[in-house]
Amino acid sequence: MEFFLDTGNVDEIKEAATWGIVNGVTTNPSLIAKTGRTQKEVIEEICSIIDGPISAEVISTDKDGMMKEALEIATWHKNVVIKLPLTEDGISACGELSKREIKTNVTLCFSSNQALLAAKNGATYISPFLGRLDDIGHDGLLLIEEIRQIYDNYGFLTKILGASVRHSDHVRRLALVGTDVATMPLKVLKQLFGHPLTTSGLEKFLSDHKNSQ
Ligand code: E4P
Repeated sequence: MEFFLDTGNVDEIKEAATWGIVNGVTTNPSLIAKTGRTQKEVIEEICSIIDGPISAEVISTDKDGMMKEALEIATWHKNVVIKLPLTEDGISACGELSKREIKTNVTLCFSSNQALLAAKNGATYISPFLGRLDDIGHDGLLLIEEIRQIYDNYGFLTKILGASVRHSDHVRRLALVGTDVATMPLKVLKQLFGHPLTTSGLEKFLSDHKNSQ
């Protein structure tokens, strides 16, 4: 399972990069807006920190506009993945970009049929939003399980990128159902390390060592 950081904050990415477990980064227009910088500046800096897939999202809503933006973004760095919304135009642009062997991440996926459409047009990644479904009382994990089964039924190579991850138990459950990638904020990545018995056990080992000196 790959871990991506879901952020535009380069300080967070630098911190997590030292742990050796971050395989890529996802951003979206809201995350980029928080940085107060241009998307190009942020994406280029992220690409200099992490050697892996870095998703940058288009803003256009029509296919021609999406294609124009995507072809420009794709020149920024070899690791850039073009993030497209799951609309008719987005799926169509995904098909065009796949033919040109440009990597894509189809985002804002909330149903299995939407995931099927993205896979049919050769998306590199599909991003089902687990947390946002849970927030409205739906079962986000059930969606991921269905997409896993559908992709396996037909041998689709599109990777399932579990997104909108809110806490460490989401990561555990994504792993249990065979999600290819989980993208998460730094706060959630840090939660994965923690266990009270690890903390108390280490304190005991260290105090026993000190007392024996
Ligand atoms: C995915 O690529 C999105 O950037 C992200 O996971 C959205 O998560 P949110 O629901 O916390 O905004």
